[in-house]
Parts: sequence; structure tokens; C-alpha cells
Amino acid sequence: MIGVFDSGVGGLATLAKLTAVLPAYSFVYLGDTAHNPYGDKTPEEIYALTAQGVRTLFAAGAELVILACNTASAAALCQIQQELLPAEFPGKKVLGILVPAAEAVAAGDRIGVLATAATVRTGAYSREIKKTNPRAEVFEEACPGLVQLIENGRSGSAEFENLARGYLDSLMKTSGGTDSLILGCTHYELVGAQFAKHLPAAARIFQPSAIAAVKLTDYLQRHPEVNAKLARKGEMRVWTTGDPEEFRRVGRALNCALAEKVMIPG
Ligand code: DGL
Repeated sequence: MIGVFDSGVGGLATLAKLTAVLPAYSFVYLGDTAHNPYGDKTPEEIYALTAQGVRTLFAAGAELVILACNTASAAALCQIQQELLPAEFPGKKVLGILVPAAEAVAAGDRIGVLATAATVRTGAYSREIKKTNPRAEVFEEACPGLVQLIENGRSGSAEFENLARGYLDSLMKTSGGTDSLILGCTHYELVGAQFAKHLPAAARIFQPSAIAAVKLTDYLQRHPEVNAKLARKGEMRVWTTGDPEEFRRVGRALNCALAEKVMIPG
């Protein structure tokens, strides 16, 4: 089974892309809605919550967990790989969404990143993009407040529209314009059109979930020993640590059919 972890509904964007390229595989998704948003938390808090989520997914039978959450990938993945896995889960794997996205966007020269405050504070996108393209100029814009509005089902509100527009304007002002923009938070991918409509037609928008889906198929081909352990029964479990009815309501507002399947873990 493949586990997918996010701080809430946002990772359903990733789950949809993963199941599209790997339809025969079995998936278990955990959205930590009870502790959302992660973007306002310290790295220590993000690590503790992400480690707990990973434990829940492994206990459910996952052999491989994808951290769909950019914030968790930026703030917690290294420690999970270096400390949690060797100590508690030798033989199991956790992969993040940020590095593949950074590698994919690195062909640009002037790259904009919209992400949570916690992701921006780590500087992970700039660091990883520059590993592939040292000459790239990277401009990261923290977007506090957007995730809460999305999780509250208010992504269609004037408040969301104004806030999102303000962050994009600020990014364009500091950067002087970008040729590539990465939606560096799964939640923003769910409302990608609301960013796209304010951008010049020539700007390329990168969605980390779509990139992660392609990279995962490639990873499984290169790691047959991991691939062989993954169940292929087409099962789908969707879990939230919060209120399932609220999760479904928000999912409907975002056209996420997968949200209908949500239950509490167990
Ligand atoms: N969806 C998460 C991300 O990709 C974080 C949202 C949050 O909880 O603040 O960064």
C-alpha cells in the first residue's frame, strides 16, 4: 500500500494524480485536518505531527509514504529519513514532494514560489532549485491565511480572491516578473485556476503533485524491491484526523470526489 500524507484536504490533489498514473495500486491517505494549518507552525511541531502521521500510515500497512505536504517535505522529511525510519521503520520509505518539483522548475531563469510561511522560512525551494540551476533567481512568497480559507470552504470568497491577488502582486513586484511559478503548497493546487487567471499567458505554472506522480512511477521502476512490496488491489482509504463531514463538505466545494470516501483512521 502507498501512504499519502498532508496537513488536510490539499493532498487530495496529489492523491488524484498518483492514482491516475498508478490505478492498480492500493492507497491510504491521511489528512491531518485536526492540526491544520502546518504553515504557521515551528519546524519542531511540523516534525512531531508529520512523524505521527507517518506512523499511522505505516500501521495501516503502507510500505512507502509520500509526503504530499510541501511544508512537511521542507521542514520534516530529512529528520524522518535520517532518524525516524532507521530507529522505528527500517526497510520502509518516505519520499517528499518538494525536491522533484524544484528539479522540474529549475529550467526557468526567474522562478516564483508561492508557499506557506513555514516552507518559505526553510529556504528549501531556493536551495533545491539552485542545486540544479545555480544561475536561477528564485523569489519565494509566503501566503499566510490562504490554507485556512481553503480548509474552511471559502476559496470562492472575495476575501480569498483579494488575498491571493495581493500575494501574486507582491511576488511580481519583488521579482520584477517571473517566467515560471510553482504552486508550492498542495492546497494552492486545488485552486490553481484562481492564480492562473492573474498571470501572463506566457508564464509556466508548475504543480508539484503532477511532477511527483511522474517521479514516483520512475522511482518504482528503479526500485523493484520497493515496488514488489506494494499491494495492487486498487483499494482506496481516505482518512482525516478532523471531522469527516466537514472534510466532505470542503472536498465538494473544491470538486474533490475522493473526499467523499473520508473516514476517521482505523
Ligand atoms: N498543504 C500543505 C503544503 O503543501 C500545508 C498547508 C498548511 O497546513 O499550512 O504546504
